[in-house]
Amino acid sequence: MVKTLEWTDEGVVFIDQTKLPTEEVYVTCQNYEEVAEAIRTMIVRGAPAIGVAAAMGIALGVRDLKTHNLSEFRRSFGEICRVMGATRPTAVNLFWAIRRMQAKFEALSSSSLTAAKQGLIDEAQRMYTEDIAANEAMGRNGAVLMPASGGVLTHCNAGALATAGYGTALGVIRAAVESGKKLHVFADETRPFLQGARLTAWELMKDGIPTTLISDNMAGYIMAQGKIGAVIVGADRIAANGDTANKIGTYSVAILAKEHGIPFYVAAPFSTVDLETPNGSKIPIEQRASTEVTHLAGKQIAPTGVNVENPAFDVTPAKYIAAIITERGVARAPFAESLLKLTGD
Ligand code: MRU
Repeated sequence: MVKTLEWTDEGVVFIDQTKLPTEEVYVTCQNYEEVAEAIRTMIVRGAPAIGVAAAMGIALGVRDLKTHNLSEFRRSFGEICRVMGATRPTAVNLFWAIRRMQAKFEALSSSSLTAAKQGLIDEAQRMYTEDIAANEAMGRNGAVLMPASGGVLTHCNAGALATAGYGTALGVIRAAVESGKKLHVFADETRPFLQGARLTAWELMKDGIPTTLISDNMAGYIMAQGKIGAVIVGADRIAANGDTANKIGTYSVAILAKEHGIPFYVAAPFSTVDLETPNGSKIPIEQRASTEVTHLAGKQIAPTGVNVENPAFDVTPAKYIAAIITERGVARAPFAESLLKLTGD
């Protein structure tokens, strides 16, 4: 399977997702600023991958600190975390990862600086392996919800490329296919950044999973033709009541699914659940450059100076979600209770 990101002695290596599917190019970020830039420019993207990348970026930054003075070390650590946290606002996995590194830092504060550095590097690598294990568990939990055969629609890329490996929504599809289900994936192209066309279609084809690419405005027509048995997407942040932020266009797909009586599933690791955010209206939505809308593959497709909106995410109200599939189990409405139950509290 494709390696989305990897910790090496030279730095953090990423497959450059802005170049896919035509070029399979790997970039090595040699310091934490380069990792932050890779997140900002979407060389690496997808909520869980952003979280692991940030943790590795912090580990890289800490590894390079020259000071032997603890308070200076602490100040620099804080600055590295601040830079990472300023990259993208919506995926809560980023902030979850930073907080986890901060907690590790505090736990190591009585160790030598050398031991603290190594401890933080180990923690980032642990987050990498845990993410893959969580996706595999999610796959097992979700595979049973997939139809035995037929079409499943997904939006954006919630695959191996969006995680440390295996994927969330695509992980469930992978597990269902591995269990013998005969699925055919319909991948929304996902304007404006085209994660569906460029990334989902690419990674599913690499795995030999039957895939049909459609433009976003075709989803209703395909559903009306009876070709879709389930919709499954990933998530960037799930509020305490189950409202879910995911790639722009997800909300429209959820409403279409409801209209056609098709179950709409969200697959996400528990690190995407943000119990401190009560509902979707409180989720910060990233606004991206207008050129992503006015240009296609570098070519201008709209009049110069036209007003543009480019929210990168929308919020699907919990009432449209049949189930939230996590590595800890499957939550169903009322989500305020079922998600809390999965915390073990
Ligand atoms: O802007 P992106 O490409 O980072 O957005 C990605 C998504 O919206 C994914 O669906 C989400 O992060 C889940 S990935 C497992």
